[in-house]
Amino acid sequence: MSSIELIDLRSDTVTLPTREMIDSIRRAKLGDDVFGEDQTVNELEKLAAEKMGKEAALLVTSGTQGNLISLMSNTKRGDLVLLESESHIYWYERGGVSVIAGLFPWLLKSNMGAFDPCDVEAAIRPQNIHFPEPALICLENTHNRHGGTVITPNQIEEVKKVADEHSLMLYMDGARIFNAAIALRIDVKDLAMHVDNLMFCLSKGLCCPVGSLLVGTHEFIERARKLRKILGGGMRQAGIIAAPGIVALESMIGRLSEDHMNARRLAEGISRIEKIKIDLGCVQTNIVCFDISDLGMPIDLFVSKLKEKGILALAMTKNKVRMVTHKDIEKEHVEKAIAAISNISSKL
Ligand SMILES: Cc1ncc(COP(=O)(O)O)c(C=O)c1O
Repeated sequence: MSSIELIDLRSDTVTLPTREMIDSIRRAKLGDDVFGEDQTVNELEKLAAEKMGKEAALLVTSGTQGNLISLMSNTKRGDLVLLESESHIYWYERGGVSVIAGLFPWLLKSNMGAFDPCDVEAAIRPQNIHFPEPALICLENTHNRHGGTVITPNQIEEVKKVADEHSLMLYMDGARIFNAAIALRIDVKDLAMHVDNLMFCLSKGLCCPVGSLLVGTHEFIERARKLRKILGGGMRQAGIIAAPGIVALESMIGRLSEDHMNARRLAEGISRIEKIKIDLGCVQTNIVCFDISDLGMPIDLFVSKLKEKGILALAMTKNKVRMVTHKDIEKEHVEKAIAAISNISSKL
């Protein structure tokens, strides 16, 4: 067994809860949340709704469950949903949008996650006996497969205008919405205000062990609560999940800027390495993607060579590697990662 310390850049989901989070679990006032009696869950949901400037919130088990419940709460079976062609909902959620929600996905390309409102308008089909009824538009902010890119309140508002003209709902997969707010230096409410409802995750850069939240109107959340029960997500003493969530919302948001600085350092270091291609314009938050096609090496081999040097990264596509910065990544880890990539490239 090697005693090498692994620097885990695969995802911000690998973060462990902080000591304060563990302490908060010990102190949490618990009850049966299916009966609405877990005080800690109620407190977290109230806090989440306030932070986002929405009426109500619901704790769910994961981002995937949150997206699925929202798809179902915003539509009826057989409706058409407009999805971004690289979206997490479309790529990474086992097709739940169709398999469980019963929706017909219609894909739209974007510029780093930002739709052109004219494309959205053009994709909305008129009422016609032959067509599924359009019901919902989904955004993703930050955008995972585009490399953690951010969309602005203005860009969201433009899509909202189109949605309103056609009486469609607008939803945001905001798994990393606080990264977007920190990158733009704005209040997260400014990102939430133009969407009808959204989901955000506690379990990524905010370092909680489990959990995501849906926020929206009372009506949307009440429907979502029933759908969560159908999907087996009604939890009992869920305060043990909610307590770290409260710590996260109160104390872990501001530090995301450190992750963004480390991602920038990493990206700039990578950009100086021969035969590695990286678009620095896409590095806007804590995700760094780069292209290794000029190395002429299968991506799995590249990732395993990195691992031998103590660096864990993710193969996103045939040529694209992803590294994500988070609480446990320091400046010296970034430097080690750059050196490891450089070493692999120079030995070819
Ligand atoms: C943009 C986005 N949405 C949703 C999810 C799903 O979250 P979870 O892994 O908690 O199901 C992820 C996970 O990485 C994500 O990046």
